Amino acid sequence: MTELIEKMNAALGWELRAINMYAHYAANITGIHRLQLSPMFNTEMTESIEHADIVRKGIVQLGGIPVTERNPLAIIHTNDYMEMLNYSLETEIRAAEVYAELLPLIEQTDDLYDSMEQIYLSELKSIEEMRLLVG
Ligand SMILES: [Fe+2]
Repeated sequence: MTELIEKMNAALGWELRAINMYAHYAANITGIHRLQLSPMFNTEMTESIEHADIVRKGIVQLGGIPVTERNPLAIIHTNDYMEMLNYSLETEIRAAEVYAELLPLIEQTDDLYDSMEQIYLSELKSIEEMRLLVG
């Protein structure tokens, strides 16, 4: 249980970081790509808020204390949209890894398994999307 709570807190830390990162890129993207990427970064930001909320409540239900600090990995400022996409891809991969690690720690019959699996699948979808955009 402790290991699961630790992993869920790691996931929460990545989600909290993703919220900041996507908000930053949505605000900073300029030029022709702003049209498409600003809404995409905003969507990812909203998704991260939702994921964080589900994970946070799950931790509380398990009797744990959710972290309030984001994962400390630096959020790199850039005006280059390809760099933004590459940093986004990297973030989604790291987050998906944590969800992949925590899923085997949950009973498959548990409601928590379904909600964590759904988040994991949505991270995988984001990875595929980013990969297509990076080319
Ligand atoms: Fe997420």
